[in-house]
Amino acid sequence: MSRRGVLVTGGAGFIGSHFARLAVEQGRTIVVLDDLSSGTPGCLPASLHLVEGDIGDVAVVKRIVHAHDIGSVVHFAGKLGAEASVRAPEAYFDVNVVRALRLLDTVRELGIRAFLFSSTAAVYGQPDLVPVPETAPLAPLNPCGTSKLAFEHALSAVGAAHGIAWGALRYFNAAGARRDGTLAENHEPETHLVPLALDAALGKRPPIVVFGSDHPTPDGTCVRDFIHVEDLAVAHLRALDAVEVGTTVGPVNLGTGRGHSVREVLATIASVLGRPVPHTFGPRRPGDPPQLVADVRRARAVLGWRATRTSLATMIEDALRARMRRPQFVRTPDIEEIAEKWLCPAETAPDWDAVDQASWESFPASDPPAYP
Ligand SMILES: NC(=O)c1ccc[n+]([C@@H]2O[C@H](COP(=O)([O-])OP(=O)(O)OC[C@H]3O[C@@H](n4cnc5c(N)ncnc54)[C@H](O)[C@@H]3O)[C@@H](O)[C@H]2O)c1
Repeated sequence: MSRRGVLVTGGAGFIGSHFARLAVEQGRTIVVLDDLSSGTPGCLPASLHLVEGDIGDVAVVKRIVHAHDIGSVVHFAGKLGAEASVRAPEAYFDVNVVRALRLLDTVRELGIRAFLFSSTAAVYGQPDLVPVPETAPLAPLNPCGTSKLAFEHALSAVGAAHGIAWGALRYFNAAGARRDGTLAENHEPETHLVPLALDAALGKRPPIVVFGSDHPTPDGTCVRDFIHVEDLAVAHLRALDAVEVGTTVGPVNLGTGRGHSVREVLATIASVLGRPVPHTFGPRRPGDPPQLVADVRRARAVLGWRATRTSLATMIEDALRARMRRPQFVRTPDIEEIAEKWLCPAETAPDWDAVDQASWESFPASDPPAYP
């Protein structure tokens, strides 16, 4: 069966580019729509069609759908960052809701009936129950989470009204990078722990501030569920297979089901690099949940997927390799030994066979938590 093209919004970004690369390697026809507000166009293979434009630009979206026989949409484009969203909420509602709705409406009118959306664990706010199932109360604590949840509600309603199969994939903490070092996390400003701590350890930024050492967790620092970005990419392919045949997967947590504390992350980085991560402790951030770990049973049941690159050290090694290959990375004499060890040649081929075999096997649908 020849499959129709896939429109990937935000495909020049961190998670979208990993998905786009994997999808192309799996024989999919991908067209990326990205305004390059935070993405890196150079990360995409030349064989992949990149259109520079806005998700809310109806004419551009229509042109892409017609020109490339698009049959489904994987919608990564969006704004992220809890703290920034408190300072400038309008931008978050504009991109994550208003423009996203325009995109959804445009593709619906053109007859597209398969839509995946990048949602977030931030929709849960401060959950009482950990690991968090999809049925947990939805109570986001900042405009980033609220805007993502608003679009989830819209997608669910529009999907039901017009027969669109959809999925809202709720990511926990994406980390790692493609193992050949060719795609890196590249947010500006960067707010995520692993890249910030790597930069601090490499002397590329001042010591990081750890928010709170008195949380009700085993070592007093926050616990998060870090998921390798390659695992996320595979989960999207599984979800895409489902929505393309008309199966709505609904909201699905994507995590490993296992938490790591901030102290654990810093200790693992120190052991990978052979040098400490300079850090200080600050007060807790308001609204920061002490623990945020995914209940992953629904992902297993509805996607037949589970994370396979679950070692924190692996995620950090992959992130380190990719971080040092970014064009803006400056190789200085004080990190010469580390650079020698971790800068792998660009031509190193990714071992996708191993990934595929490990993550494409089917898992029995054992007692998935119900979702209405
Ligand atoms: N990284 C995480 O840990 C994480 C966690 C939860 C949810 N998410 C969500 O996943 C998605 C991807 O995250 P990421 O980490 O890859 O972010 P990213 O910033 O690296 O990628 C987002 C991409 O979307 C593009 N974009 C933004 N606004 C656009 C617009 N109006 N039109 C077209 N393109 C636009 C950007 O240029 C960028 O390439 C986002 O929607 C984010 O909210 C990410």
